[in-house]
Amino acid sequence: MSKTYYLTTPIYYVNDVPHIGNAYTTIIADITARYHRLKGDKVHFLTGTDENATKVAAAAAEKGMDPQDFVDKLAAAFQDVWASLDITNDDFIRTTQPRHKDVVTAIFKRLMDQGDIYKGSYTGHYCVPCETFYADSELADGKCPECGREVTEVEEENYYFKLSAYGDRLLKYIEDNPEFLQPEAKKNEVVSFIKQGLRDVSITRANNGWGIEVPGDPSKVIYVWFDALINYISAIGYLSDEKRFNEIWPADLQLMGKDIFVRFHSTFWPAMLMALDLPLPKTLFSHGFWTINGEKISKSKGNAISPAKLAEDLAAESGASREVCLDAVRYFLAREMTLGMDGDFSIKIFRNRFNSDLANDLGNLLNRTLSMLGKYFEGVMPDYETFGGGLADKIAETKDLAEKYCDSYEFTKALEAVWNMIGAANKYVNDMQPWVLAKEGKNAELGGVLESALEVARAAAIMIKPFMPATAKEIAAQLAIADFDNLLWSNITDADPFAKGTKLNEPAPIFPRLPKQKKEEAEPKPKKEKKAKVPEKKPLIPYDVFAQLELRIAEVKQAEKVEGADKLLRLIISLGDEERQIVAGIAKYYEPEALVGKKIVLLANLEPAVIRGVESNGMLLAADGVNGAVVLTPADPDTPAGAYIK
Ligand code: MSP
Repeated sequence: MSKTYYLTTPIYYVNDVPHIGNAYTTIIADITARYHRLKGDKVHFLTGTDENATKVAAAAAEKGMDPQDFVDKLAAAFQDVWASLDITNDDFIRTTQPRHKDVVTAIFKRLMDQGDIYKGSYTGHYCVPCETFYADSELADGKCPECGREVTEVEEENYYFKLSAYGDRLLKYIEDNPEFLQPEAKKNEVVSFIKQGLRDVSITRANNGWGIEVPGDPSKVIYVWFDALINYISAIGYLSDEKRFNEIWPADLQLMGKDIFVRFHSTFWPAMLMALDLPLPKTLFSHGFWTINGEKISKSKGNAISPAKLAEDLAAESGASREVCLDAVRYFLAREMTLGMDGDFSIKIFRNRFNSDLANDLGNLLNRTLSMLGKYFEGVMPDYETFGGGLADKIAETKDLAEKYCDSYEFTKALEAVWNMIGAANKYVNDMQPWVLAKEGKNAELGGVLESALEVARAAAIMIKPFMPATAKEIAAQLAIADFDNLLWSNITDADPFAKGTKLNEPAPIFPRLPKQKKEEAEPKPKKEKKAKVPEKKPLIPYDVFAQLELRIAEVKQAEKVEGADKLLRLIISLGDEERQIVAGIAKYYEPEALVGKKIVLLANLEPAVIRGVESNGMLLAADGVNGAVVLTPADPDTPAGAYIK
């Protein structure tokens, strides 16, 4: 019996209901869990709530509530949201549950007995919203380096975890296990963080009446991160059901946002596991952050979008079912942002994808083939000639490709592969002109064309099951696929799924096209397709001529229009240790605000020039795109400003 595929999300702080940003972690985990079930794997998918944080007591007090009542209410709200999003977690752990608290206490005792925890005195800074301790040197202008808020000075006698003893072992483990920390850029950050030298961590706080008490010292509670990380093992039977624990641990995938990857999940957590002599998870994966229309999601800005509300609004507008609209949100989140990178959510792009990928490509394939089957053969598969135009190969190829990408958590690419197959089938139908075949009475050929296209629709339905479960089901119902719930990934290439005589159902559009947005939100009119200008070929140059160019990454700090010059923007850019002013001729293509915060590619050693009275010290590089200039940016937005390009 193969090992259970075990995956986890972080456990959420119970302050607010999830928005599109933190729901992303859970939705990607859900897609992964469903994908593995579809492959026939035994899966255990865990999520939950982190309830012992210092800020909980304060938030409860503010509402005049008892902290336990407060967390009970919010944890229930979280579970309701996940249920309404059809998240298929197998368990939900709450850190106020005895099954968790008992394990935390037992682990604390054990590590104390073996000398990994000791008592000492601590002076430093604590950021309450982030629940993180910082040394003087780590603060940014005296504030929290993560969220920029005020920190509190703390001087306490505390218990420490000997993190410093694990640096070398961690580095060796990371080096020996290339899959352990992903993506690569984040792994490098962890390695630098560890190489700077690890300090022991204070793992207790003064007891303010909330949290897990330190065994034998009721004046203290256990630091919330030490407590919270343990959920990943307390929930599956560590120290309570060793048999179950051994079937499930180590985790195959632990997924979390980049804010809690380096310090907590990739350093502290594996060191705790090493101290407990437990194997480490196979992969810790850091995903990027969503912004909304270029802005950070924040309560104060009031810009948080709830995925459930988004789906409901869309359903009300389009007439599609709520479940299918929810699928559209899941599809967008998985398709639009490469796992590991940051991404921006905009309703406009979401609506575009809904219309183009879902209504046009997928919807059309199903609709037109079923309509023609109805029109020409009364919905019953005729005797047909297998033509296929290579579509059978395309299905097999896509199955392998999408599997490879899903196995390596490259969901964007997996979906691209599936849509590429759908595109090939739509093109095939166009090329074969079945309506002409019908006119000419070539029924066997016509049947062959429709059957081939329907096979692609069937294959797509299975492949998108993890991403869009309700849609997949709906497609399967229209295609009259028997026992669809029990089909596995391996069934994608089943031979001859639509045998002669099979009765298929009437088509019903799953994704009605959305109308253009109201005027005030309207998108700019798509510009006429223009071909990019092709400059004349330039002569070859030796490498040392290229090497004279100082190409560097820079971050745009400020941007504004140059008065009296409608093509020019004045940018203040940072090269890490130096700020400069440059002028760029891109004002027609970019709003100044859209560039602030962006990383660009700079030719840094171009002679200074004065353009329209403004001095420019370097040149921003842009490509000649179809609709004008396209600013070049590094594929990994975390590339530091100042980095050299070789
Ligand atoms: N309680 C801790 C985790 C403890 S795990 C042992 C915590 N909770 S959280 O509620 O603040 O965050 C939960 C998850 O949401 C994290 O993975 C975080 O990175 C993610 N996100 C929060 N805002 C986000 C975006 N705007 N975009 C993407 N993910 C975001 O941290």
